Amino acid sequence: DKPLKIAIAGLGTVGAGVIKVLNDNKDLMSARCGRSVEVTAVSARDRNRDRGVSLDSFTWYDNPVDMASDDNVDVVVELIGGSDGIAKALCEKAIENGKHVVTANKALIAHHGTALAKAAEAKGVNVMYEAAVAGGIPIIKALREGLAGNGFSRVYGILNGTCNYMLTNMRETGRDFDVILSEAQDLGYAEADPTFDVDGIDAAHKLAILTSVAFGCEVDFDGVQTEGIRHVSPIDIEFAEELGYRIKLLGITSRQNGTVEQRVHPCMVSKETPISQVEDVFNAVVCEGNFVDKVVLQGRGAGEGPTASAVVGDLVDIARSLSVPTFSVAADKLEKLSSASLARH
Ligand code: HSE
Repeated sequence: DKPLKIAIAGLGTVGAGVIKVLNDNKDLMSARCGRSVEVTAVSARDRNRDRGVSLDSFTWYDNPVDMASDDNVDVVVELIGGSDGIAKALCEKAIENGKHVVTANKALIAHHGTALAKAAEAKGVNVMYEAAVAGGIPIIKALREGLAGNGFSRVYGILNGTCNYMLTNMRETGRDFDVILSEAQDLGYAEADPTFDVDGIDAAHKLAILTSVAFGCEVDFDGVQTEGIRHVSPIDIEFAEELGYRIKLLGITSRQNGTVEQRVHPCMVSKETPISQVEDVFNAVVCEGNFVDKVVLQGRGAGEGPTASAVVGDLVDIARSLSVPTFSVAADKLEKLSSASLARH
């Protein structure tokens, strides 16, 4: 069978990771997909930075949007980031030209997911974003495939690795917020603008996407009530510990009587619960389904390997010619939730 040809836009931590996974697991990918998965084109800000991978055999693009018109590309992998600008232009162009899109960009999907889904559906291509939510945890596939027989009442969890790393380290070492944040940045966990992590915006992007997949409604980022961890101090964590609790930044989406409530905020979580034991960069998501009861998924929520693993999982689906709706129901059937029907308090 013909190889699946990939263009990668953005060669930071995740982009370099995707090239490594496709190199290291080349034979495994071919065996699993029945065809090879090959990178043909790349684009990044700096061509010469050492990424630990060779770019010699790929076509280089100074302007990533041009990759969307390359006949030697079947799938555009967007790893630039940002809800608008080049990332959005690239994805729109790729869809317009009949190419599949795989992205790790939660801001883009949280703000423009519905529009991209509709465009992709009209062109018969896929927009996939497993890597956008909870790093290496296959939560989108779990909700859309393995748990698809259920109606969901609630989906919640630890959705930001940087905050969980910071809260864990504050508890263990009592060190300063800023010192630990800069460590998380050095480890490649934090967003380009780390205020997105500490103010809960990144978790809110992810929660808005989960809501849409779980409940089949349009992505409503503005409907997420959001509070971050900036005001949580080591002394709060110590007191919570004494009372038998851990402080975790949780994203919670629930549905009752047709009303969806989405919120992100620090929570006191009993040390008796599995989620309280999820520490460092790990994320965890709990899905409550009406037949399966509770399913808890846990794994690394950020970093090169886990995020690249999720991107490649989407590429494997496309290579196997799986056609999936962008959200859990076809875009033209997405339920419209008016602002009034969303509880925002
Ligand atoms: N900054 C994000 C986090 C990266 O810390 O979870 C993964 O989405």
